[in-house]
Amino acid sequence: MRTNHNCLPARQLVWRIVGPLDGKVAVVTGGGGGIGGATARALAKEGASVAVVDIEGSRGERVAGGIVASDGNAFSVAADLSEESDVVEAIKATISLWTPRRAPQQRRVD
Ligand SMILES: NC(=O)c1ccc[n+]([C@@H]2O[C@H](COP(=O)([O-])OP(=O)(O)OC[C@H]3O[C@@H](n4cnc5c(N)ncnc54)[C@H](O)[C@@H]3O)[C@@H](O)[C@H]2O)c1
Repeated sequence: MRTNHNCLPARQLVWRIVGPLDGKVAVVTGGGGGIGGATARALAKEGASVAVVDIEGSRGERVAGGIVASDGNAFSVAADLSEESDVVEAIKATISLWTPRRAPQQRRVD
């Protein structure tokens, strides 16, 4: 029997093409910062659509722009997480952008 050691299991092969987080939406708070930015980029690289939330809009824009320039899916939201209304608006903006036409069970924002 011949075996091909270069063969990947089917699931890993699919992930190589679309990424294990394809179809998922991630909200990264403090996403314009060092740790948040690295987290946002890592999630996008795995296929997630990333909302980069930061109190400093320009920082979030820089991270989201870098992800988009690398063919990822991201947008930035300027929001102060210490303000409840800002948090609600940030989540609403994310949901309205990425989940309006999906079935209810797919409307998760992880
Ligand atoms: N425990 C540890 O070992 C350890 C190590 C490193 C970092 N940290 C902590 O982790 C956090 C992140 O670290 P970092 O290096 O990425 O910091 P950073 O300063 O690079 O990033 C923090 C980001 O959060 C944003 N931010 C601050 N207040 C906000 C608010 N109210 N609403 C929305 N965004 C806000 C800032 O604009 C900034 O872009 C910090 O609190 C840091 O102290 C802990």
